[in-house]
Amino acid sequence: MEFQLTNGVKILPVGFGSYKSTEKGADVIKTALDAGYRYLDTAAFYDNEDQIGQAIKEYDIAREDLFICSKVWPTNLAPEKLRESFEKSAYQLQTDYLDLFLIHWPKVSQKDEKWKEKLQLAWAEMEKLYEEGKVRAIGLSNFLPHHIRPVLEMAKIRPMIDQLELHVGYMQEYTLAYLQKEKILPQAWSPLGRGRVLNDERVTALAEAYGKTNAQILLRFLLQRGVPVIPKASEEGRMRQNLEVFDFSLSEDEISYLSCVTEAGWSGEHPDLAELGG
Ligand SMILES: NC(=O)c1ccc[n+]([C@@H]2O[C@H](COP(=O)([O-])OP(=O)(O)OC[C@H]3O[C@@H](n4cnc5c(N)ncnc54)[C@H](OP(=O)(O)O)[C@@H]3O)[C@@H](O)[C@H]2O)c1
Repeated sequence: MEFQLTNGVKILPVGFGSYKSTEKGADVIKTALDAGYRYLDTAAFYDNEDQIGQAIKEYDIAREDLFICSKVWPTNLAPEKLRESFEKSAYQLQTDYLDLFLIHWPKVSQKDEKWKEKLQLAWAEMEKLYEEGKVRAIGLSNFLPHHIRPVLEMAKIRPMIDQLELHVGYMQEYTLAYLQKEKILPQAWSPLGRGRVLNDERVTALAEAYGKTNAQILLRFLLQRGVPVIPKASEEGRMRQNLEVFDFSLSEDEISYLSCVTEAGWSGEHPDLAELGG
């Protein structure tokens, strides 16, 4: 299974989510690499890019064998700040380019009436980073259609990906349909609902039927919906389990059934309600 962005860059179906993963040290990154992960998702906000950079260096893996994604926090959308944020991320990750760079949230506050103009200036700077070859792909995170439209209005280079909260119980169907229409690849954060939908009895029933774990059902569901995933796990057994989702297939009826689960496990984070400071 392979996902491809509009510019031809390939996205691995399962990446490693690093938010809060390094709280007990950076060895977890080496464990993830041991388990077979080659896509690492981080962000300036996670405050772990230096740990990840060091872990990669010590692991002694060729840079081109890794796919590294980072994100700029919305308080740094002014062009010079966005560039500084990129440079800092790359420096801490000990690399001179990122495979993917995302705008983490569309705005800092619902009270910010100038968010559209700020976003458009930020996107123009993202395009420059792309044109300069400092990032192989550029995209968005937590953008809903009404946040994406102002970007598309001015974009020379269209956003290639939108990383969103997506999981059984929170499928954001309106946004998914819009992304498909605009050829922007959705990618799921919290694909396991950060544990909140793991023990859902409908998922358990399918896990028993397939001889798989609940986590594997949740991840396989998203992949079959056309959505690559970036689960976070703390120990190698779970990390491997989350990668082992390619030896079975859910039926169309099961995909339909899981797509129609009523809202469950939502994080409560919404781009139009968040107050992200700054
Ligand atoms: N763009 C954004 O705004 C945004 C927001 C949130 C997250 N993210 C990204 O998405 C990544 C994943 O999201 P997330 O960390 O929120 O949640 P998640 O991946 O949905 O869930 C992680 C939780 O599930 C547990 N888990 C993992 N694999 C398991 C398994 N096989 N069986 C049972 N439990 C399992 C983990 O436990 P242990 O850790 O104890 O193993 C952890 O508590 C983040 O790390 C981050 O990189 C992005």
